[in-house]
Amino acid sequence: MLKEALEKIEALAKSELSQCADEKTLEDLRVKFLGKKGELTAILKQMGSLSAEERPVIGQLANKVREDIESAITMRRQSLKEELTALRLKAEAIDVTLPGKKREVGKLHPLTQVLNELKDIFLGMGFDIVEGPEIETDHYCFEALNMPKTHPARDTQDTFYINENVVLRTQTSSVQIRTMEKTKPPIRIISPGRVYRSDAVDATHSPLFHQIEGLVVDKGITMGDLKGTLETIMKRLYGEDAKIRLRPHHFPYTEPSAEIDVMCFKCQGKGCPLCKGEGYIELLGAGMVHPKVLEGCGIDPEVYSGFAFGLGLERIVMRRYGISDMRLLYENDLRFLEQF
Ligand code: DAH
Repeated sequence: MLKEALEKIEALAKSELSQCADEKTLEDLRVKFLGKKGELTAILKQMGSLSAEERPVIGQLANKVREDIESAITMRRQSLKEELTALRLKAEAIDVTLPGKKREVGKLHPLTQVLNELKDIFLGMGFDIVEGPEIETDHYCFEALNMPKTHPARDTQDTFYINENVVLRTQTSSVQIRTMEKTKPPIRIISPGRVYRSDAVDATHSPLFHQIEGLVVDKGITMGDLKGTLETIMKRLYGEDAKIRLRPHHFPYTEPSAEIDVMCFKCQGKGCPLCKGEGYIELLGAGMVHPKVLEGCGIDPEVYSGFAFGLGLERIVMRRYGISDMRLLYENDLRFLEQF
C-alpha cells in the first residue's frame, strides 16, 4: 500500500516538475512534495503502522523517493536558469552587422548665429553686453526717453499693456536709461533682446522681434565716433566693401538723429529689386543722446556726450541670407532651419 503510494508520489512529482516553467512554481512544488506538511512526510508518518520487516524496506524506498525528487528539482532549477539566460541573450542580442544610428546634431537658430557674431564684433571693440527686462515700466520704455504720454512717436510703437504703467517693451532703448542710471561714464554697452509691438503678422512684421541697442557715453564723443563705429561693424558683417550713409531723421531721445543705410550688396548702389531701386537698404536708427535724456539720468550734458543706436536683428538676418518672409524665422520648420 505505502509502496504504491510512494511510487505514485514520485511519478506525480516528476510529471509536475517537467511542466513547471518558473522558479516560483518550482518552489511551490518542493513544498508540496518535500515540505513538513508535504505528501512524502504524510506517508512517513504512517510508518508506525508497518511490521518490523516492512519498515526498513519502505524506509529505504522513502529515502530513495526523497533523493530522486530532490535531484529532479535541482535539475529542473538548473534547466530553468539556462532557459531564462537563453531567452535574455536572445532578447538583448546586438546585431553588429546593422548600420549605426546617426546621431542628430542640432545647431543654433540663424537669429542666434548672427547675434553671436555681432556680440563677438562688439566685444572685440570694447563693448560690454548688458540685459534689461522685457516687462518694462512706461517710464523706462517711453518717459525717460523723452517720449511723454502725449508724444506722437508713441503711435508707431503700440504695445501690450500689463497695466497703465507696465508694458512689454517696444524697444531695447529702455536699457540705455537703466544703464545710465546705474553706471557713470565712460559707458560702452550693447543690449540685445526681445521687443514687442501689437503689430499684425505679415512678411515684415511680428508682434515679437529682436533688437540690439548700443550706447556709448564719454567725454568728447561725436557723430564721427558713431559713424566710424557703425561703419566698422557693417564692414565686419558684410565685408570690406560695405558702405553706409546717414540720413537725417527724428527720434525723441537723440539730437541730431539719423537713419543709417547700408549700400545694397546685390547691386552695389545701382538700384535693384532687393533695395527697391534705392541702392541703399535701411538698417538702423541712431543719433547723439539727447541732453535731456543724459540729464534725466544724472549725467551732465555739459561734460559728457554720447551716441546711441538700435538695430533690428531680424532685418540683418533676412538681408544676410536673402530671406523674404520674417515668419519663416519663427515657424521652427526644420526644412528651413537646416539650411543655416
Ligand atoms: N528705438 C528705435 C526703434 O525701436 C531705434 C533707435 C533709434 C534706437 C535711435 C536708438 C537710437 O538708440 O538712437 O525704432
